[in-house]
Amino acid sequence: MVKLRKLELSDLDAVHALVSRMDVVRYMLLPVCSREESEEFLRSSILESPSEPWRSVVRAIGNFPSGDLIGLCGVVVLRGAEEGEIWYLVNPESWGKGVATDAAGQLLDVAFGELGLHRIWATCLPENPASARVLEKVGMRKEGFLVGNLKIHGAWKSSFLYAILESEPRP
Ligand SMILES: CC(C)(COP(=O)(O)OP(=O)(O)OC[C@H]1O[C@@H](n2cnc3c(N)ncnc32)[C@H](O)[C@@H]1OP(=O)(O)O)[C@@H](O)C(=O)NCCC(=O)NCCS
Repeated sequence: MVKLRKLELSDLDAVHALVSRMDVVRYMLLPVCSREESEEFLRSSILESPSEPWRSVVRAIGNFPSGDLIGLCGVVVLRGAEEGEIWYLVNPESWGKGVATDAAGQLLDVAFGELGLHRIWATCLPENPASARVLEKVGMRKEGFLVGNLKIHGAWKSSFLYAILESEPRP
């Protein structure tokens, strides 16, 4: 259904169309991005945040077979660590068709395969049950509830913590 691929500078219009929407970033740390912020996000994604203490591996979610960019996803790894955090976002026109589930499954393949990680975790807000469902559908366990750990668009929010080990079974 979808294929993950590396981002290119020519993806700017499609990336901006996504990250400039409040309904897309509402439950995420990302701001509603101006064109300049979208370009900065894209450039730093392509370079995998070289000046940061973490490596941010971002992939375009490409519709298959057209290749059109219909979402973004990524893994953030503290440099030197063997665990990473995943995230994803999908164009609202493509919600409810299994896109995020397909992409998150492929992202786990990248994280455990190409990146050689041992543990993957993710957080999601209680008010975002679609995301919780995606994490459950790819086989992640609910590990806990983190109180007031995320400042989302200026307000402190609590979140559910999900995780999976490389050795654990996946659907
Ligand atoms: C969360 C998001 C990525 C889901 O993408 P998607 O492609 O629609 O996800 P899928 O179609 O693979 O799966 C969605 C699941 O959530 C379920 N769902 C959707 N809305 C729901 C709701 N309000 N309550 C409970 N479940 C819900 C769907 O029924 C589906 O589960 P099912 O297959 O068992 O029926 C998408 O809504 C999005 O991009 N949101 C904005 C960005 C975001 O919040 N990202 C996550 C940050 S943690």
